[in-house]
Amino acid sequence: MRRPSEHIAAAPARDAGDIDIVTRLLHLALVVFGVAAWLSGDLSEYEERSASLGFILHSWLGIAASAAVGLRIVWGLIGLRSARFSSWLPVTRKRWQFALEDLGTLLRFRLPDRPPHQGLAGVLQSFGLIVFAWSAATGSVLFFWLEPGVEAGLWPELVKELHEVSETLITAFLAIHVGAAIAHALAGDTRWRRMLFLSNEPTPRRPAS
Ligand code: HEM
Ligand code: HEM
Repeated sequence: MRRPSEHIAAAPARDAGDIDIVTRLLHLALVVFGVAAWLSGDLSEYEERSASLGFILHSWLGIAASAAVGLRIVWGLIGLRSARFSSWLPVTRKRWQFALEDLGTLLRFRLPDRPPHQGLAGVLQSFGLIVFAWSAATGSVLFFWLEPGVEAGLWPELVKELHEVSETLITAFLAIHVGAAIAHALAGDTRWRRMLFLSNEPTPRRPAS
């Protein structure tokens, strides 16, 4: 028998096959603050003697992005079943099997067509949350630790290095995630409009193949 956690289309209609409003609001916050924090990262030269405008801007955008990531993690633990990590993180053989099938589909130059969070998209979304959570955790430590005018000691310097590690990973994630959203949009999938609150139409429920 198929377990609903492995097959969202088998879950009750209220929370299945669609992305709930709380998840979409948090996603919008990730789009706005997450992308702004990523873009402003390079402006954030931390100077011992003064608080540069770039540093202040990046710190506050980063804290807003960290709040969005933190709340999405809380929602993933206690939110609606379809949004919970237990329903979709790629931690079962079946979910990896879906992801591999999607890879095969892409290699045949076709787009995978699955309900939200499933297959390759779910793997990539998990990866995105992990790398943003890493930036958020290390950035939040810096937020409370770095003091303009005071030389960063050995430990804050180390956290700064750890914080910078995620830049390439975030860039790779965004390129693939946004690239996939654009490819699906060009193929007529309107899901991106609903994710960005540009349309009220519920996501069509698709069988999970
Ligand atoms: C999810 C939230 C965040 C994201 C996505 C993010 C992203 C980035 C990126 C992409 C860079 C550029 C790294 C590089 O040049 O190699 C950066 C640098 C930096 N970030 Fe963040 N950041 C976040 C939160 C924060 C917060 C809350 C602070 C608080 C102070 C912070 C402080 C810094 C500093 C000081 C640097 C520059 C280090 C240096 O080159 O001197 N970040 N961040
Ligand atoms: C311009 C930026 C972005 C666009 C256009 C975009 C687009 C989308 C779309 C269309 C979906 C629905 C996919 C589906 O139904 O399978 C989605 C889901 C998702 N996106 Fe993004 N996204 C963006 C930025 C981000 C960022 C910065 C993150 C940070 C981690 C992120 C994480 C996720 C996650 C985790 C999901 C699954 C829904 C959820 O549980 O929140 N996205 N995105």
